Amino acid sequence: MGLPSLFVTRRLPPAVEARLSERFDVTINQRDAQLKTEDFRQAISGFDAVLPTVTDKFCSRALEVRNPQAKILANYGVGYSHIDTEAVSRLSIAVTNTPDVLSECTADLAVMLMLMAARRAVEGEHEVRSGAWTGWRPTHLMGRKVSGKVLGIIGFGRIGQEVARRAHHGFGMDILVYNRSAVAVEKLAAVGARQVETIDALLPECDFVSLHCPGGAENRHLIDARRLGLMKADAFLINTARGEIIDEAALAQALIFETIGGAALDVFDGEPRVSAELRACENLVMLPHLGSATREAREAMGFRAMENLVDFFEGREPRDRVA
Ligand code: DGY
Repeated sequence: MGLPSLFVTRRLPPAVEARLSERFDVTINQRDAQLKTEDFRQAISGFDAVLPTVTDKFCSRALEVRNPQAKILANYGVGYSHIDTEAVSRLSIAVTNTPDVLSECTADLAVMLMLMAARRAVEGEHEVRSGAWTGWRPTHLMGRKVSGKVLGIIGFGRIGQEVARRAHHGFGMDILVYNRSAVAVEKLAAVGARQVETIDALLPECDFVSLHCPGGAENRHLIDARRLGLMKADAFLINTARGEIIDEAALAQALIFETIGGAALDVFDGEPRVSAELRACENLVMLPHLGSATREAREAMGFRAMENLVDFFEGREPRDRVA
């Protein structure tokens, strides 16, 4: 029997593409550009497996195929709210993701964003680069101290825990956690954290709030105008999870009227489009979804996706099966 056919929706790090082609008959979207709903239908109709990324919306329309050839979608990434898992399951297609391997890099970036926002790094960098810097002065670009402050973490999965570890052990921060289910006492104790019952109870107590819950319809606008209003007037909001978790129009208002200290976003609702309102906010740091963008993490994500595919086609249950 020949190798299983695999459609890969984006260019992957060279080492991953090379290894995939040893085990699969691989077709790669060489244009490395966003595919359309029709392309997804064709992919599941004509290949044994598909390796999609966060930009590939496998919504119910993309899955309107009678007898798909595809048996598995091996998602390249941990978040999979872009895949309608119910519709996929109805077609008897399995879904896997790539947890763990990107947690540290994403946590590093969340901490970096927290520091950048609090210490006004973007404004400072722009000033030096543009030649506008006039020299040291006592009141120049004063930011806020991070060490010893209170960090609220919403969603205490792998990435949330890594952020807490860095913040507590590296910066002596006090950690408050909101998580849908109860977190084991040892996990909280390891980072000196306290779990609170509700998001509303967490927000007024924090100097920084970092989001680490899944995206999707369930958490859409979890942080809305009302909840932004519960944050301290000098607190910062950090999002490395999914754009839709924040009501961005409400966030823009909070930033414009300075009802919060600032924000830092690596993800956007409807990215790569970012509203003009947000782009005009100087008290906002923005990055283009770089959480896992290190060579180490991006290779590990590819190898992990491949491991899931190999297990599946060799008749074993893939370890990261999510649907
Ligand atoms: C993830 O793994 O969910 C990252 O956001 C990239 O998709």
